[in-house]
Amino acid sequence: MVADPGFSLVETRRHNLSAISPINYVMVCMKVLAIPGSIRRGSYNRALALNAKDLAPEGIEVEIFDLDGIPPFNQDLEESPPEGVIALKEKVRSADALLFCTPEYNYSVPGVLKNAIDWASRPFEESPFEGKPVAIAGASTGSMGTSRAQYHLRQICVGLGMHALVYPELFVPNADKKFDEHGRIVDERLKEKLTELLESLRELTAKLKCRNAQDGGG
Ligand SMILES: Cc1cc2nc3c(=O)[nH]c(=O)nc-3n(C[C@H](O)[C@H](O)[C@H](O)COP(=O)(O)O)c2cc1C
Repeated sequence: MVADPGFSLVETRRHNLSAISPINYVMVCMKVLAIPGSIRRGSYNRALALNAKDLAPEGIEVEIFDLDGIPPFNQDLEESPPEGVIALKEKVRSADALLFCTPEYNYSVPGVLKNAIDWASRPFEESPFEGKPVAIAGASTGSMGTSRAQYHLRQICVGLGMHALVYPELFVPNADKKFDEHGRIVDERLKEKLTELLESLRELTAKLKCRNAQDGGG
């Protein structure tokens, strides 16, 4: 029996399941949960996530999840986590794909983001991250554009069984020059790259959904 691949895909050839491939599906609307790794007022990474929402191509819906309601992780509470964590887990579970917008703190992922990921990943057998497609982006005021943090984040995604998009990568260096005072991207090439990232995430998500359908998974 082949499981339903998900409400956001329209199956066009149910009569011949052996022939399912990405082109047999039309993505109607992909829900992307964007998680900025900074809770700072005026965060460039939150701005990046908001621009992704605004620039998302038709058929891609981006919702932002702010991490300011997530307390420090305490394993004593993992079976009955705080409200903010429950909400995060539900949002991750119901999203077709994730977009992390991470700052770089001391060459790595900020504690705020790692803390939220740790919460949502527990208990291990209930992790909503398993098998989830994810795109990684990041903005920093430095010249490396969060590349070091992003590679650490990729490693974390591997540990969680996620499918991290390999290309394109999106590093935003010198972030203080890439956004206007309202947080809108002023660099046209960056706008294109952000759109390309979402398009590639859609492609990866469709491929994974088709493969899962072929394998009989959800
Ligand atoms: C504790 C701390 C450590 C930082 N370490 C780095 C770093 O290793 N590399 C880098 O490019 N920027 C570093 N920065 C600068 C951040 O990239 C910059 O503050 C950025 O704007 C943070 O993201 P946000 O605007 O989304 O809050 C650091 C900033 C802080 C507060």
